[in-house]
Amino acid sequence: MSGEARTRYWGGGNGVHRPSSCYRCTAEGEKPSSRASPAKVAGRVSRPTPPERQKARLEQARFEMAKRDRQELGSARMPSLNWLSEPSRPSFLPKTSMSARDLYQDPVWQGEELGQPIPASPHAVSVALPRWQDVVGYEEKKPEVVNALTSGYPRFFIHAQVRELAQQIGERRPCLPFPSLRAARLCAGFIERTSGEQAKVVAFRSIHGVVTSEKGTDALRAFWQHTGLIVSTREAEAHLAGRGPVADDEAVRRSLRRQLAGFYDCAEDDVFLAPTGMAAQFAALQAVIQRTPGRPTAQLGFPYVDSLKLQQKLGHGGILLHHLESIESELKDLLRRQPLAACFCEIPGNPLLGCADVRRISPIRRGHRVPLVADDVVATPANVDLGDYADLIATSLTKFIAGTGNVMGGALICNPKSPFYHELKPIVSAQHEELLWGEDAVVLDAQARSFPERMKRHNQNGLLLAERLRRHPAVERVWYPKWEFSEAYEAVRRPDGGWGALVTFMPKHGDTKSPGIYDRLAFCKGPSLGTIFTLACPFTLLAHYTELEWAESCGVSRYLIRISVGLEDPEDLWRRLQRALAGP
Ligand SMILES: Cc1ncc(COP(=O)(O)O)c(C=O)c1O
Repeated sequence: MSGEARTRYWGGGNGVHRPSSCYRCTAEGEKPSSRASPAKVAGRVSRPTPPERQKARLEQARFEMAKRDRQELGSARMPSLNWLSEPSRPSFLPKTSMSARDLYQDPVWQGEELGQPIPASPHAVSVALPRWQDVVGYEEKKPEVVNALTSGYPRFFIHAQVRELAQQIGERRPCLPFPSLRAARLCAGFIERTSGEQAKVVAFRSIHGVVTSEKGTDALRAFWQHTGLIVSTREAEAHLAGRGPVADDEAVRRSLRRQLAGFYDCAEDDVFLAPTGMAAQFAALQAVIQRTPGRPTAQLGFPYVDSLKLQQKLGHGGILLHHLESIESELKDLLRRQPLAACFCEIPGNPLLGCADVRRISPIRRGHRVPLVADDVVATPANVDLGDYADLIATSLTKFIAGTGNVMGGALICNPKSPFYHELKPIVSAQHEELLWGEDAVVLDAQARSFPERMKRHNQNGLLLAERLRRHPAVERVWYPKWEFSEAYEAVRRPDGGWGALVTFMPKHGDTKSPGIYDRLAFCKGPSLGTIFTLACPFTLLAHYTELEWAESCGVSRYLIRISVGLEDPEDLWRRLQRALAGP
């Protein structure tokens, strides 16, 4: 096993010292030798007691997964950070040989790389869209773009393994697989309700497909995208190979829950895992609807595209209040006219990086007994503490917590400090199904160990680029939580927290300049955020292509460029940005 794989699976700590989940501690509480494999570590336990035996089995399962992952990823090794000379190189950063493509120094950014998976893995969640015209072509379904794609964001793009599984189930009819009978039934009901087309649930081995007509396809895809109740690439691969869940997958999920409980300062059983961030939001939506049936929800601030679509299409209506400067009075007015099931908000919003002031909003909504569902994907729990204000926190593990861009996951946190805790948690608990596939949990559990340390570096790099961009003469405006509605962000920022690594900017004369700047930008370019390598995209085009006028009426220009700043040498990143801004 190479140093790189070892670091990926054994790197970092979660900031809360728990020997049972800490990479620094073996079963005997010792530091493992840097060359010891997990199997050897496990093997040193001479007469394991039952919990130690369970831990040893878990270590073995992780080791096997790591081995298989490395075999299948082939060239998709995580990029190296060779620019960091020893001994300043942080221990949590992956080591690789230069034979693998080094996304830190050799990003996927040029025209001829259109459609390549980022990273080069069958489980990649991003795909190279290197030129502005590629993004437009992708949205307009131009064959020269669509046919070049070998990957994509899994809620939008059906990966080869999932497609193969769907074909086996659907026998040439439109079909998608779902991870449970309940999810498949919900999807079939949604198709029939919204398109009037028939949809049938078909059992296939241990999963369930939904089969519909050509006319039902849009609704089928919409359910998959908005609810995030998807079958992951690893799960599809396992079903195709006739492989069952990994040994001790429950123990792996437990270990992940324990780490997340450390990040959120709650108990392990307050954490409910989901296959994606959207599935966690859907679980929150279903819970608040069950608590007060028939009521709509309000979205405070312009959100990530599917957050609003989910409330509008799968709830009882989602009312958008996007003026953050007057959000308190708008919410008061709304609540006078209309009882709500919940308020949803992002801390901070994607892509405009401002947030509603949850401290000021709390007395207004709690006076009406309306819970708050917060999404902290962009800030992350390392930077903000929502414990005093959020009742539920729905997060995506796909982004900063994974960091590698090769796995999806989500979590719904029931906040034990919430006045609605004793109402909401039993509902969430009763509705919950354990749908995060064990192999994905293994990857997430390993990656989560290095998340707090990685996040510190993301914060430093994000701040540096945001501040320099802000002073650049070719830049009109930069959105970053340090100055976008900063009072609201500061109210929840942890004393040692930063402002994150998502930076959105508008070049001067963006309508003519943005495409060229984007094309020249030597960063990986494609969907998603939170990866350890920098990733850029023209977010409005990518997320709102069919509703650009509406997005612009909410202040979200089609010419924005969003950068998720990675862990590279920030001076190198800045040089690349300067070159792109300087012109041809
Ligand atoms: C702010 C925010 N929340 C939630 C999500 C959904 O997460 P996932 O893609 O894991 O379902 C995203 C995805 O980009 C996001 O940006």
